[in-house]
Amino acid sequence: MTATTGPAAEAVRVAAVGDIHLGADCEGLLRPAFSVLPECADLLLLAGDLTRHGTADEAAVVAGEVRDCGVPVVAVLGNHDYHSGQEAEVTRVLRDAGVTVLEGESAVLPVAGASVGVAGAKGFCGGFLGRSAGEFGEPEMKAFVRTTRRSAERLAGALTDLAARPCAQRIALTHFSPVPDTLAGEPLEIYPFLGSYLLAEAIDSGGVDLAVHGHAHLGTEHGLTAGGVRVRNVAQPVIGRAFALYRLPLDGRAGTEKAGRP
Ligand SMILES: [Fe+2]
Ligand SMILES: [Fe+2]
Repeated sequence: MTATTGPAAEAVRVAAVGDIHLGADCEGLLRPAFSVLPECADLLLLAGDLTRHGTADEAAVVAGEVRDCGVPVVAVLGNHDYHSGQEAEVTRVLRDAGVTVLEGESAVLPVAGASVGVAGAKGFCGGFLGRSAGEFGEPEMKAFVRTTRRSAERLAGALTDLAARPCAQRIALTHFSPVPDTLAGEPLEIYPFLGSYLLAEAIDSGGVDLAVHGHAHLGTEHGLTAGGVRVRNVAQPVIGRAFALYRLPLDGRAGTEKAGRP
């Protein structure tokens, strides 16, 4: 859908959180915080690791937290959401609750009187420029790096789709990180397992205004790609609240933002 509704606001207010890791015992945990979303945000982004072990039962708890929350909800899955091999069922449960779940896909949302595009993919690990794994040697190593490359290609494909559609703002949503900046605080030894520079290359080629990810629980909120795209790690342990809020001006200039503390 690309239609817009009403006069455009001055900015799109993006709420975002990842790594909420809800289990069966978490029913109703986030619902009170999410109930204020219509008052302070135009959409909610969920950056993966929504469940603990990726079961359909846990996905049903997540669905209950966001169903009819009053703003459009767009999600990617994280590695935890794949753990039980039920990622298709997890996706179905979330979609049944009205969540737009993206994996190598894009969506254009009519919010704040404008069209906002979101391209999403889980992403994968592999490391960052100069310190990344190579597609060489054993079949297992090649398969690992190929997974990284294909995931970045899916994100790039979603961004290419988005580029062909009129959008006031374009957002890239992943679980794994595109940059090392937002990993600061994590042990250096595990950086290669937290993201890939190939995601950043896709983002920098895709005309993106904001990139949002999770996964790095000990990382840092703010980062930047080499191409100057703002990156935000919204893993809940990092932002320390129910969701972060980012303000994307609709006049085409680079955005300002503020932290939400509901
Ligand atoms: Fe996580
Ligand atoms: Fe994760």
